[in-house]
Amino acid sequence: MDRIAGRVNKFYERYPYPSLPIRTERDLIHKLHSNVMGNILGTVELTSSDLAGKDIMDAGCGTGEKAAYFSYHGARVTAFDLCSASLEKARELADKFNLQVEFSHCDMAKFWTEKRFDHVFCLGALHHTEKPYDNFLALSKFCKPGGTITVGLYNRYGRLRHRLVRTWIGFRAGLDFDKRMEYVERSIYGRKMRSVHEAAYVADKYVHPHESYHTVEEVLGWFKKNGFSFIGAHPRTDAGAGAFFTQLKWMVKGNGFFVMSGKKE
Ligand SMILES: C[S@@+](CC[C@H](N)C(=O)[O-])C[C@H]1O[C@@H](n2cnc3c(N)ncnc32)[C@H](O)[C@@H]1O
Repeated sequence: MDRIAGRVNKFYERYPYPSLPIRTERDLIHKLHSNVMGNILGTVELTSSDLAGKDIMDAGCGTGEKAAYFSYHGARVTAFDLCSASLEKARELADKFNLQVEFSHCDMAKFWTEKRFDHVFCLGALHHTEKPYDNFLALSKFCKPGGTITVGLYNRYGRLRHRLVRTWIGFRAGLDFDKRMEYVERSIYGRKMRSVHEAAYVADKYVHPHESYHTVEEVLGWFKKNGFSFIGAHPRTDAGAGAFFTQLKWMVKGNGFFVMSGKKE
């Protein structure tokens, strides 16, 4: 494990993400769909009913909510993560709803399987690795011909304001996770975190030891170089010069995270 993966892993063992409070089938299916999955699937031009029988990879699956969602809709799901605490929660969630997901504990820089997938998802994980492009490249090779890859990344423009806040927190509280969290609770929220999910969400945002920032043009370049055509993005953006102006809008609105999908030609 490289130095960044080591620190990132230590962080997630402490704050498994996203640790959503999924108690009922309605939480897993309807709430997750309307909060995130509908938009993510939209970037691949899929609906939940297209998932049945598909081979899906969830790389950096965290606490497994999305993997469980795919499996609930009839996909064969392979999911892995570097964090044991997250995987324990992911397995519990799948068991709770009697879902079959093939989970494994692995660094994405080393992951290997003979399987090939209709859809590869890597949401919110590449930007916490030392070499996001190398990892994208490795994951892209697991797509079947005609298969898709979907990546969720922090945006260089959209996350600018947030970067300033992170820098300030580093300046005031240093690198220690506990000190950073205490500072955030005291100075930003003015209270303690109210739930495991809230702590995971807030820590991911303000306490995280490593994140990198990416642009629409950069991801289009990753797609082009490796024989993928652009399908769609959330928030929406076109692939031309307009992408720059869209990202300026994200900067104003504080849209720090974007999802892009490509199809292997
Ligand atoms: C922000 S969470 C996203 C979790 C999940 N994909 C989601 O969208 O809810 C990032 C996840 O990436 C995982 N991760 C980070 N670096 C990794 C690596 N090198 N290999 C595998 N997983 C990694 C972390 O352990 C963490 O669970």
